[in-house]
Amino acid sequence: MITIIAAIGKNNALGKDNQLLWRLPKDLKHFKSLTENHPIIMGRKTYESIGKALPNRTNLVVSRKENWFAEDILIVSKLKEAIKFAKKIDEEVFIIGGGEIYKQTMELADRLEITLVEEDFEADTFFPKIDLKIWQKVNEEFHQKDEKNDHDFYFQTYEKINKDQ
Ligand SMILES: NC(=O)c1ccc[n+]([C@@H]2O[C@H](COP(=O)([O-])OP(=O)(O)OC[C@H]3O[C@@H](n4cnc5c(N)ncnc54)[C@H](OP(=O)(O)O)[C@@H]3O)[C@@H](O)[C@H]2O)c1
Repeated sequence: MITIIAAIGKNNALGKDNQLLWRLPKDLKHFKSLTENHPIIMGRKTYESIGKALPNRTNLVVSRKENWFAEDILIVSKLKEAIKFAKKIDEEVFIIGGGEIYKQTMELADRLEITLVEEDFEADTFFPKIDLKIWQKVNEEFHQKDEKNDHDFYFQTYEKINKDQ
């Protein structure tokens, strides 16, 4: 099972200047509970924006740079190799971004775990369009903004429609 996990604005915004666009600790908790103890795959820019390896998960970072190193992560030069390797470690693999990596893995993924933040944001990186001919929403949970979480948002799960059925 390959799951893409992303938080997106209404306009599919993902980030700007290599940073996230909102303060939503509830979403960070949700991200942690879903991904912990599973391998996670990310692009080099997302790794740099996080600034460290995420604990209790095998962190696979894809980069084509030849002389780039960082602590506590596995650097892989090909995205497909990273996925193959992650699948050997665990049945459930999470793709955690960013924009370039999501674009290249939408076709390979089985499930999307989307946090839809109920606002449009100015951004320089966007999530690909979720084609409802391909993806079916199977779960949705609304959360209202509060003193710690700056925006209303939904947790949504999409599964790929199996055309063989
Ligand atoms: N809202 C969210 O849920 C979320 C999640 C993650 C990230 N983000 C945001 O997204 C932005 C970063 O996304 P991004 O699109 O700029 O970058 P990215 O996807 O994180 O990383 C792109 C880099 O990955 C490497 N790469 C891409 N495709 C590859 C392939 N096929 N094989 C090997 N390496 C490959 C390249 O690294 P090299 O240049 O080193 O070769 C490329 O420059 C930030 O603003 C971040 O905050 C948001």
